[in-house]
Amino acid sequence: MGLAYFISVFIHFMLAAFWIGGMLFLPLVILPGLKQHPDRIRLLYVTGLKFRFYGWMALGGLFITGWTNMYFRGMDISLQFFTNNTYGRWIGVKLLLFVLILGMSAVHDFIFGNKALETFEQGNNDHFKKMARWTGRLNLLLAFVMAFLGLLASRGGVF
Ligand code: HEM
Repeated sequence: MGLAYFISVFIHFMLAAFWIGGMLFLPLVILPGLKQHPDRIRLLYVTGLKFRFYGWMALGGLFITGWTNMYFRGMDISLQFFTNNTYGRWIGVKLLLFVLILGMSAVHDFIFGNKALETFEQGNNDHFKKMARWTGRLNLLLAFVMAFLGLLASRGGVF
């Protein structure tokens, strides 16, 4: 495996760190940090929108570097690749989960997260807040599983 492979995995890894780190930073640091702030909603909106943009960029980058990881590792990517060997099977599962993550992120970012902030002023946003929280948590969990599957793939898996 050449330098290109290591650079590709490095970028993949950094994007995963950025995306997962951002998902943790928002609820653990920003939300409680702004709790008493008079301009809380506007600040949450602005920071949320900024992270939404970079989050989707990171997902796009993860998808691209996922393929370059395989390419530079010299994998012969075909349909059999996803069924005939352990590495390919883990990557197949990763791809399925990735589609789920895209759907969950879209629902969280463009529906519940948005609505929770939009309806905040009216004071009846409990439902949207709850849904935004749960879709966010589920996405974080999926992200951890993705990282673990990547680690299994690169180190030969457990089966
Ligand atoms: C939410 C999205 C993703 C996250 C958080 C993620 C995370 C990771 C992590 C942490 C690793 C471990 C690297 C290592 O320990 O060596 C990895 C490896 C890997 N990922 Fe992803 N990944 C994501 C999406 C994808 C996608 C969409 C693909 C396929 C198109 C992909 C393909 C791979 C491959 C092939 C490896 C193994 C690299 C090797 O052969 O050493 N990943 N991923």
